[in-house]
Amino acid sequence: MSTPATPATPAGPADRPIALVTGASGGIGEAIARRLAAEGHDLVLVARSTDKLRAVADELAAAHGTSVMVLASDLGVPGAVPALVAELGDRRVDVLVNNAGVGHYGPFVEADPARLTQMLQLNMVALAELTRALLPAMVARGSGRVLQVASTAAFMPGPLMAGYYATKAFVLSLSEALADELGGTGVTVTALCPGPIATGFQSGADMGSSKLVRGKTLMTAEECATVAVRAMMRGRTIVIPGATNRVQAFSPRLMPRRLVPRIVRRAQAPTH
Ligand SMILES: NC(=O)c1ccc[n+]([C@@H]2O[C@H](COP(=O)([O-])OP(=O)(O)OC[C@H]3O[C@@H](n4cnc5c(N)ncnc54)[C@H](OP(=O)(O)O)[C@@H]3O)[C@@H](O)[C@H]2O)c1
Repeated sequence: MSTPATPATPAGPADRPIALVTGASGGIGEAIARRLAAEGHDLVLVARSTDKLRAVADELAAAHGTSVMVLASDLGVPGAVPALVAELGDRRVDVLVNNAGVGHYGPFVEADPARLTQMLQLNMVALAELTRALLPAMVARGSGRVLQVASTAAFMPGPLMAGYYATKAFVLSLSEALADELGGTGVTVTALCPGPIATGFQSGADMGSSKLVRGKTLMTAEECATVAVRAMMRGRTIVIPGATNRVQAFSPRLMPRRLVPRIVRRAQAPTH
């Protein structure tokens, strides 16, 4: 569901590229929005927390002269993307960053059914819908960049976060296929596959007790955003920030398939 768009700041020069970032009210999405603003993009920022989006918009307008449109939308609700696209009207989008996403820690059999459905809707359905809605104009113009935020979780099944890992496998698969389909059009699709990043994600996913994050020093959202934006602008299909994460993402290929879930389960079991 989306509420009326807020043109939070005055319009900049008409020829500046425009980037739409979902989940821009915090974490990786906010860091990517800041990076894109610093590199001369105007912005459309989407999330549920309009107060946070407006604070980011005001700051970026003051720092870089960025023109920012704020759109409040709960992308975990069916019908949110068509409403969002209607709000956008004929506004050009040169860069689409599908970043909004949530996770849930714990056995699948105990997952709250409504929360599970909302995660599937947000992480997969809204991402696919928004991509489908904005790609045709990019292809017609012969230029565009799409960044889909997946995870290293996309490369393996993930007991104790089974649904979340599966949503990220969907994002990676969709992105790789689209990157191929769009070859030669001037439009590129990049899947960003971070390992654990220090954001509000872990508390939102109730995974504070998981060995994967507890007591660990995590990569910052800013470091992740810098690597992500550079790879997207170069049109790379997959980017995994951090050498250790790259090894972890590709190591399942070297193992018997049946062992992988056991290893992942051990890696992210609760510490107590
Ligand atoms: N942090 C990690 O360890 C990590 C690792 C790999 C991949 N990722 C992925 O990175 C992406 C960003 O996560 P993050 O770490 O930056 O988490 P975060 O700090 O919790 O930020 C999530 C963002 O998504 C927005 N969001 C959540 N639910 C939404 C909804 N229903 N509708 C619209 N927006 C919604 C939030 O804004 P509102 O609450 O204001 O709506 C917020 O801006 C996610 O796709 C996540 O799966 C994260």
